[in-house]
Amino acid sequence: MLIQWLGIPELASAHGAMIDHMLEVVHWFMLVLFVGWTAFFLFTLWRFRARNNPKANYRGMKSKFSTHAEVGVVVVEVLLLLGFAFPLWAKRVKEFPMDSNPIVVRATGYQFGWHMHYAGADGKFGQRDPQHITAANPIGLDPNHADGADDFVVNRLVLPVGQPAVVQLSSFDVIHNMAIPVMRIAQDAIPGSEIPMWFTPVKEGEWEIVCGQLCGLGHGVMKGIIEVMPVEDYNQWLQAQAPVPPVASVEQEVGVAIAQVD
Ligand code: CUA
Repeated sequence: MLIQWLGIPELASAHGAMIDHMLEVVHWFMLVLFVGWTAFFLFTLWRFRARNNPKANYRGMKSKFSTHAEVGVVVVEVLLLLGFAFPLWAKRVKEFPMDSNPIVVRATGYQFGWHMHYAGADGKFGQRDPQHITAANPIGLDPNHADGADDFVVNRLVLPVGQPAVVQLSSFDVIHNMAIPVMRIAQDAIPGSEIPMWFTPVKEGEWEIVCGQLCGLGHGVMKGIIEVMPVEDYNQWLQAQAPVPPVASVEQEVGVAIAQVD
């Protein structure tokens, strides 16, 4: 149908079909409006042409047709909002799948890329503090905190297929936005706050993550990778990851952190 002609990307998430459906309905509606208003415009040009109406009529049209058409358009728009957009949005921001054992990843945006922080085998995230940030420890994981001992940081978002994923978004510097077109999801990453987003990948593969907020000169090349794999492969991948190495001294940390900011 129409949706194939819109050239939207491949779909790989459970909720994405609802978004595509809404996109399709909106486009059909816009097509009807475009054709309808264009026809109405052409009709009025012909109906009220100067040759047949030499004297201007300041009362305008008596028929209620355009009022009814306007009300109809408003009703359809309200239905689209209340029937499709609001329920979709509410599910994304309220019904987090915390009971169904989601994969939780903390993603920190920076100019220009993403650090993906995994909790490791214990499932617990270590504490983070900006004073621990080094080149080797880009998220500032506290080396003295036990929960963080098996945490690791990678530059791609790796997930198992069929399991809900919660991505906790934050930023190292300016506002970024993690947009994953194939998952039909996007969320701003804002310094100083942690904002979650969730989706369930239903297809295996490797795709691009794009940055959806103008964030500096490298915005256009701030590309990330999302990789969705079978559960067994994911578990193997988890085991193969090395924890963030412990850091040497405070002076060294600060030095590297400043160098990194520069
Ligand atoms: Cu990060 Cu644009």
